[in-house]
Amino acid sequence: MFETLQPAAPDGILMLMSLYRDDPRPGKLDLGVGVYKDVDGKTPVMRAVREAERRLHETQATKSYLGLAGDTVFNELMIGVVFGEKADRTRLRSAQTPGGTGALRLLADLIRLSRPDATVWLPDPTWPNHLPILRAAGLATQSYPYFDAATGAIDFDAMMAKLNTLPAGDVVLLHGCCHNPTGADLSQEQWKALAGLLAERGLVPFVDIAYQGFGDGLEQDAGGLRLLAKTVPELMAAASCSKNFSVYRDRAGAAIILGRNAAEADVAHGQMLGLGRGIWSMPPDHAAACVRIVLHDDDLRADWKQELETVRMRMQGLRQGFADALRLQSNSDRFDFIARQRGMFSRLGLTAEQVARLRADHGVYIVGDSRFNVAGLPGNRLDELATKVVTVL
Ligand code: LMR
Repeated sequence: MFETLQPAAPDGILMLMSLYRDDPRPGKLDLGVGVYKDVDGKTPVMRAVREAERRLHETQATKSYLGLAGDTVFNELMIGVVFGEKADRTRLRSAQTPGGTGALRLLADLIRLSRPDATVWLPDPTWPNHLPILRAAGLATQSYPYFDAATGAIDFDAMMAKLNTLPAGDVVLLHGCCHNPTGADLSQEQWKALAGLLAERGLVPFVDIAYQGFGDGLEQDAGGLRLLAKTVPELMAAASCSKNFSVYRDRAGAAIILGRNAAEADVAHGQMLGLGRGIWSMPPDHAAACVRIVLHDDDLRADWKQELETVRMRMQGLRQGFADALRLQSNSDRFDFIARQRGMFSRLGLTAEQVARLRADHGVYIVGDSRFNVAGLPGNRLDELATKVVTVL
């Protein structure tokens, strides 16, 4: 049987992790996979999560099954995080998933079940894993214009013009904030115009909000999604706790839907649970239980928010510092966009050959499309890094 298989194409982002690991050079720098690193280059367990783990360890009396939706309190709390504490929950339903990727896959399967002929439209560019996830669910995909490399900004007119031609019932995948890989986000004005267009044309938004809290703030980052929820009859959102709770490997996320009415939301939610049963049966508990403990306790929640805000501000500082260093070293403003963009990633705008030289000659690992992990920048080596970037130009 297996003789029929071809070797799998390596994942461009994950491949970098192993190349980096095998590189013996002491000054090597990993700016590939999206993982936050502190001043010491470590990815710490957040204080509130650590405390939640301690409490869980002391109080958890069983590891028996919880059920198909996972932890129901976690689900309710995640609706609050993503859609706001005051959100009307009548039409909102959530299922706990293994990470944001699990949420994307579950919702992709839901699209396939409810509207098998729908095309899912992806921004160009998008997170490389979106495509395999949607294809694995058997969905047709296409792309719409999003980022203009020449200006380092969103080509909003081209995006809207394309979306304005799509047939009713198609699905539009959007990055809720901190666009991966470009860091170029829609303004509130643009979200408003977009929401109007989606509602008018009967297009269904599918929002990947993997980086909430890493852009302009926890509430602000969900502003676009919340505006959509007020404007369109139905939507889907894939949320992740990997980044904002720093529980990457433990895999916690939520697939949240907004139905046209409570009855339809219930039916869709029931189908989601059935689909999950066919993939992972029941979602992993540990990280979701910790997130539930953090969000449920006023002190822990406040501490988590504070630490998340520190992380966000540090990334903003690194963006500014790196843009300044590049301005100095390149004697130009061509990299100023780095300070304007948001979240964990931006693209340097290098060719594949320049990216390869950065790795081979300087031990600096960034993704092939020149995406780098802002949260991995070492604050004390920005000038050195800027010099290396300018050397390969
Ligand atoms: C990334 O884009 O680096 C992260 O979302 C991690 C991943 O799984 O690719």
